[in-house]
Amino acid sequence: MPAELTVWLDCDPGFDDWLAMLLLKQCRFARWVGMSVVAGNAPLEVTLDNTLRICELHGWSVPVHAGSAQPLQGAQETAQNILGGQGMRTSGAKLPPTTRRATSRDAASALLAQIQSSDEPLVILATGPLTNLADAIARDRLTMGRVREIVLMGGSIDRGNHTPAAEFNVFADPLAAAQVFASGIPLRMFGLNLCRQLLLTREHVGAVQALPGQIAGCVAGYLDAYQRIRSVDGREPMPLYDPAVVLWLARPELFEFQATPVDIELQGQFTRGMTVCDLRNRTGRPCNVQIAMKASADEAMQAFMRLLLQALEPAN
Ligand code: RIB
Ligand code: CA
Repeated sequence: MPAELTVWLDCDPGFDDWLAMLLLKQCRFARWVGMSVVAGNAPLEVTLDNTLRICELHGWSVPVHAGSAQPLQGAQETAQNILGGQGMRTSGAKLPPTTRRATSRDAASALLAQIQSSDEPLVILATGPLTNLADAIARDRLTMGRVREIVLMGGSIDRGNHTPAAEFNVFADPLAAAQVFASGIPLRMFGLNLCRQLLLTREHVGAVQALPGQIAGCVAGYLDAYQRIRSVDGREPMPLYDPAVVLWLARPELFEFQATPVDIELQGQFTRGMTVCDLRNRTGRPCNVQIAMKASADEAMQAFMRLLLQALEPAN
């Protein structure tokens, strides 16, 4: 891992996207130069509003660019049936409103301009549907070819979460995912198989609830509700999705990968949006993805909590 990385985040906040941002702000080696927002957990106007409110709450000045409101093909899919109208629930105080506005409403152009102006190759963290990235590739494949790698939360080597076969981010725009996975840009995939090793428990929530201050209190309410997604009393641990990509940035030695050919199913009646991972390389196709297969889970969760508590100290 180089001494410093230039990082762009493409996201669909979503509370786990917010957690990824909090960790990213603690990575001193990462120069976070911009952010693009996509429809996903909720429609674009909601994910954008969430993003601007998050930046207001933490006093962040990272440029925020609005991107795609619709998938490349097919109907819009959100996770509001699980996460509620705002795309994330809280058991406490809601994110305060903001008068902030997006820096631009053309995320793909902003991303391309950043790549063109940057001396350092960009690392793109993608924690939502891949529509914005597919849009940028379609507009200027040569410039996107300068990206160091795309590190994404999405897909799975086995069962899905939004359908039996598909993980939400890929299912929400499978054609965009197919275009990104076929782009030749180096990809590092944190799928459900990996995220299910990073389990958030009531104990983790309690540690954040014990923190002083209004900002920590606001995050604690959303963390509490997030942890209860699988079971109302929170007894069933909840996987950490989006923070996994930042945990890898911070502690790469805690993760093991397998170079694998991965294709996106676009036709299947029951399997559309599935990441078809040829783990035994039966097809002989090129290994286009580094799939995260194993985490040192205890150490990764300790690292998560250290970074999160650090991020929520009043001084930060
Ligand atoms: O499947 C989990 C992913 O879908 C996460 O990125 C979550 O924020 C939603 O976007
Ligand atoms: Ca997300």
